[in-house]
Amino acid sequence: MPASARAIQIRQFGGPEAMQLVELEVGEPGPGEVRIRHHAVGVNFIDIYQRTGLYANPLPLTLGMEGAGVVEAVGAGVTHLQPGDRVAYASQPPGSYCELRVMPARSVVVLPDGIDFETGAAMMLKGLTVQYLLRRTQPQGGLQPGDFVLWHAAAGGVGLIACQWARALGLRLIGTAGGAEKCRLARDHGAEFAIDYRSEDFVARVREITGGRGVRAVYDSIGQDTFEGSLDCLEPFGLMASFGNASGPVPPVNLGVLAAKGSLHLTRPTLFTHLATRESTQAMADDLFARVGSGEVRVPVSRRYALADAAQAHADLASRATTGCLVLLP
Ligand SMILES: NC(=O)c1ccc[n+]([C@@H]2O[C@H](COP(=O)([O-])OP(=O)(O)OC[C@H]3O[C@@H](n4cnc5c(N)ncnc54)[C@H](OP(=O)(O)O)[C@@H]3O)[C@@H](O)[C@H]2O)c1
Repeated sequence: MPASARAIQIRQFGGPEAMQLVELEVGEPGPGEVRIRHHAVGVNFIDIYQRTGLYANPLPLTLGMEGAGVVEAVGAGVTHLQPGDRVAYASQPPGSYCELRVMPARSVVVLPDGIDFETGAAMMLKGLTVQYLLRRTQPQGGLQPGDFVLWHAAAGGVGLIACQWARALGLRLIGTAGGAEKCRLARDHGAEFAIDYRSEDFVARVREITGGRGVRAVYDSIGQDTFEGSLDCLEPFGLMASFGNASGPVPPVNLGVLAAKGSLHLTRPTLFTHLATRESTQAMADDLFARVGSGEVRVPVSRRYALADAAQAHADLASRATTGCLVLLP
């Protein structure tokens, strides 16, 4: 029998005011699908790109790509989940800002007993992103303990997880963040150095810290404002992983710049390529769960909002006022 559930939808692209609380009917899961009752839902910067239309999806659209809850029903052919399982996911298509949803089971994994729903909802999209970046998106020859890497927005949701994971791998992470307080937080979470890129020239500081050599890899989610400077922070053959657009998308790149700056490598990756199969999703999640289970990575949930206040969460995230992870509690 269909159930009714509250959800946050947009009918047109726009600002936080485009987000409406609606009632939706949720039916039975079809083949390969699962129905999940959310206990917590993660808020991510990608949700803002989808709200504004920078990343366009068909409308009306229920926002959200990360959540944790309990399986209520499974469709035909789903063998790795059963009703009653505690689960979490980061997944396409959007639709996690709700109490109850039907979605592809392929992206959903069982949450270990020791991990609560808030942590599960906060860590899947952000933690799996750090997993594929630090473990699978590396410069030629891989990353070794002692290597310098630069990570922008180091006090954010993805950033604070990255600081801790990099420390666990023995990497010397240089973080950037807006303001002294955010820099302190990044250092507390494992960044060896933190640069306030609002008041300091981050390229000059990176050169100074690395004795003029530069870093082996830059993980840049800021986009437009930092792209050029990030290239200038790399050592020859270094890797530029441009994985976000918090300040706006990177304009078209003249590839000759990569030659001029030292045979650089450039990639523009997305988590969802890595989550294309259930096997890959499970392997990445197992790595994340091991890091969280061992205490090497703590998931910093900093703000909690009612589902109905999702627009406020977006406004806060876009304003650069937040640190760590934000969750909605349906
Ligand atoms: N490609 C992928 O697979 C993938 C997956 C997940 C996330 N991402 C990207 O990773 C980034 C981090 O995501 P998140 O959800 O953890 O967000 P977040 O880092 O918690 O928030 C974004 C941060 O970016 C910084 N920022 C710099 N310029 C900004 C601007 N003009 N407007 C707003 N923020 C600005 C701010 O930190 P400061 O105040 O310290 O500058 C802000 O707190 C996002 O760009 C997201 O799209 C990409």
